[in-house]
Amino acid sequence: MTVEQGTGLELDDIQIGALHERPSPYVGTYLLLRIDDPAAGRALVRRLLPLVDSGRSTALPEHGAWITAAFTYSGLKALGVPQESLDSFAPEFQQGMAARATELGDVGDSHPSNWEAPLGTSDVHVAVAVLSSDAARLEAAAEKARRAHKELAGVELIWRQDCYQLPNGRTSFGFKDGIGQPAVEGSGTPSRNAKEEPLKAGEIVLGYPDETGELPPMPTPEVLGRNGTYVVFRKLHTRVAAYRQYLRAKAASREEEALLGAKMVGRWQSGAPLTVSPERDDPELGADAARNNDFGYADDLRGFKCPAGAHARRANPRDSLDQDGSVNVRLHRMIRRGTSYGPMLPDGVLEDDGADRGIVFVFAGAHLRRQFEFVKTQWLNDGIFIGAPAEKDPLVGQSDGSGTFTIPRTPIRRKLPDLPPFVVTRGGEYCFAPGLSALRWLADLDT
Ligand code: HEM
Repeated sequence: MTVEQGTGLELDDIQIGALHERPSPYVGTYLLLRIDDPAAGRALVRRLLPLVDSGRSTALPEHGAWITAAFTYSGLKALGVPQESLDSFAPEFQQGMAARATELGDVGDSHPSNWEAPLGTSDVHVAVAVLSSDAARLEAAAEKARRAHKELAGVELIWRQDCYQLPNGRTSFGFKDGIGQPAVEGSGTPSRNAKEEPLKAGEIVLGYPDETGELPPMPTPEVLGRNGTYVVFRKLHTRVAAYRQYLRAKAASREEEALLGAKMVGRWQSGAPLTVSPERDDPELGADAARNNDFGYADDLRGFKCPAGAHARRANPRDSLDQDGSVNVRLHRMIRRGTSYGPMLPDGVLEDDGADRGIVFVFAGAHLRRQFEFVKTQWLNDGIFIGAPAEKDPLVGQSDGSGTFTIPRTPIRRKLPDLPPFVVTRGGEYCFAPGLSALRWLADLDT
C-alpha cells in the first residue's frame, strides 16, 4: 500500500470522493439499491470494486468517472456484517437520518413522512455516486455500474437522481457553491485559506489522528473501518421563486436585491466573499481560487461586512468564534460535495413553474455528530452562538415563515422579517464509504 509521506495517509485505499474534488463542469447520477439476498449483495460489492477509484487517482479516473460506493446501516446488515461490528458504528449512523429528523429540524414539509420514497426507509442499502466531466463518459461509467447489478437477482435499483452543473456554473439560488472547503493533511490539495492550516486527516478519514490528537472511534474490525468515511446525502428542494419574490418585496432596487441575497449567503453570487468585497460583487475575485477562500472574520466581528447570521459564516465562522479559545471551529469542518438537480428557473422569473430543483447536499467526514449534526443543529438551526437565539440560517434554516434575519448596519441595523422556508428536505441518509480493502472484506464475507 502506498503511504503518503509524513501523514501515513493510505491514499490508494481511500475512495476518491472524500479527498478529490469532482470535475467542473460535471454531470452525474446517484443510484440507490436494495439488497434482498446477502450473497447477491456481496456479488454486487465484488463487481463494484474494480469501478471504484482511490484517492490516489489523477485528474481523470480510470473509468472516466468518479464512482463512490457507500452503505447505510441497513445495507451493511443486509450484506451480512456481524452484529458486533454493526454495533461499533457511530450511534447516529446506526439510527439513520430519518430517526434524527427532530434534532436536524426536519419538520413540517421536511418531515420524513413527506420524503420522497424510498428515502429514509430501511430499503435504502447501497448508494452509488457516478460523476463525470461529460455525458458520454458518464453514460459509459453508469452503464458499467448498472451492469454490476443488472443480472443480479437479489439486488434492486430503487432510486435514481441525475444531477448536473447548471449552465451558469451556479446552484439554483444563483450562487457559486463548493468554495469553502478545508484542506486535509496528506491529500495533496493545498489550503486556499492562509488562515486555516490543513485539517488532520482523521477529521475526514477514519484510522488517523484527528484534531484532538486521538484516533476517532472506528468501526471494527479494523479492516472495515480503516480508510472509511461517513457520508451524508440530503436531497434539498430549493424554492427559488419564493426566494426571488421575497428579495424583490424587501428591496428597493435590483442592486439592493443582490446585496440582500449576498448578506444572506455571506458571498456574492459570483462567490466573492462579502468580507473581502463588502460593497459590490467582484466576479474576478469570485473566480479566483487563490483568493476567494482566503479570508477570516476577525476584523468584522460585528458583521458590518458579512452578518454573523449569513449562511456561510454560520456554517464556518472561521476566526470569529475562537477569539477566546472556547470554540474550536476546526472540530466542526467538513468536506462538501454537493451537486445540483432539476432545471434552472430562468433568470428574472418570479413565478413557480412547479419543477423540482435543488441540490443534493453531500457531506464527508469522520464525525457525523460533531461535524454534520453539530453544524446543522447548533449553527444553522440555532442562533445562540451569535447572540440571536431566535434566528436561524436565513437560507437553509427551514423557517416556518416567522423567522428573522438581522443585517448589522449603522446607524441602525436592518431586520428582514417573516422569512419563508426556502429549502425543503426531500429525504436523505447517513452512509459509510469504506476503504477499498474494506470493500474487499465485505465482498468476501462468509455468512
Ligand atoms: C439547499 C441548501 C443549501 C444551499 C443552497 C447552500 C448554499 C451555500 C452557498 C452558496 C455557500 C457559499 C459558497 C461556498 O463557500 O462554498 C455555502 C457554503 C457552505 N455551506 Fe451551504 N448550502 C446549503 C445547505 C448546507 C447545509 C445543510 C450545510 C451543513 C450542514 C451547509 C454547509 C456549508 C458550509 C460548511 C459552507 C462553507 C462555509 C465556508 O467555509 O466559508 N450548507 N452553502
